[in-house]
Amino acid sequence: AQVYLNGEFVPVEEAKVSVLDRGFLFGDGVYEVIPVFAGKPLQEDAHMERLYRSLDAIELELSQTPEDFHGMFTRLLELNKESAKHLTIYLQITRGVVEKRAHGFPEKPTPTVFAMTIPLEPNIRTSLDEAPTGRAITQKDRRWQRCDIKSTSLLGNLISFQKAYREGMAESILIDCKGRVTEGASSNVFAIIGDRIITPPLSKRILGGITRALVLEIATRDGCYLCEERQLKVEELREASEIWITSSNREILPIVELDGAAVGAGNPGEVWRHIAGLYRIYRDQVP
Ligand code: PDD
Repeated sequence: AQVYLNGEFVPVEEAKVSVLDRGFLFGDGVYEVIPVFAGKPLQEDAHMERLYRSLDAIELELSQTPEDFHGMFTRLLELNKESAKHLTIYLQITRGVVEKRAHGFPEKPTPTVFAMTIPLEPNIRTSLDEAPTGRAITQKDRRWQRCDIKSTSLLGNLISFQKAYREGMAESILIDCKGRVTEGASSNVFAIIGDRIITPPLSKRILGGITRALVLEIATRDGCYLCEERQLKVEELREASEIWITSSNREILPIVELDGAAVGAGNPGEVWRHIAGLYRIYRDQVP
């Protein structure tokens, strides 16, 4: 596989970063994961907007523009097009290499810019009946208070996910100290209650998912179900007829079991079928 590192395209084995990179020393960096279906990036502009918001939040300035990234992505996709039909672009930017380890931000950093592609198996297939489902557990949300920044410092997310992972589950759903759902360890959470599609509101406690926003947009435009962005108690989640997690690489994944109990009838629900169908049309039509 060919990857991008600081202006060059090289085979992955040849891409090397110094041990004095602040990404390695401190996890001082941000990233994006952009899904690419049949060669077409989905929601690239929204991903770029979020990237620059993350960079602003960590006070890191870049000389590259979204147009520069677009050119780089096009070349990267061309170089890796034989590797799989669908891909994600993983883009990571760190505060670069320093002379010595010190907490303070360097005055004139030279950011390290890295990108690679990762093969992607879409969850939402031609036949919705073949779509994978997942099981989840709830876990205490032990993360920091700036989860809106898409930071590479992910230990809180990793520790929360590990228990689910060990048990072969798709996700850990995180619950704050007041018993409210925040998000998944690497996804946003939706619940169907009555005929409403509910997801926790944007705040510094969650990442503003691009898939989350797209699902809300598609469902609102369609109008069959009302969407509500509101606080969601864990007790309500347990009573929901459907639970979904959303992310760029898992699309809209139905969760059929939560903490060992069936969600609804224990298989993907009818609201999921409706919205996943609309999402698939949108995804496959993007020019
Ligand atoms: N994760 N919340 C968290 C904590 C996430 O890590 C992610 C995505 C999301 C969903 O965001 P989006 O719809 O923009 O992918 C929500 C990526 C895919 C990852 O870390 O691999």
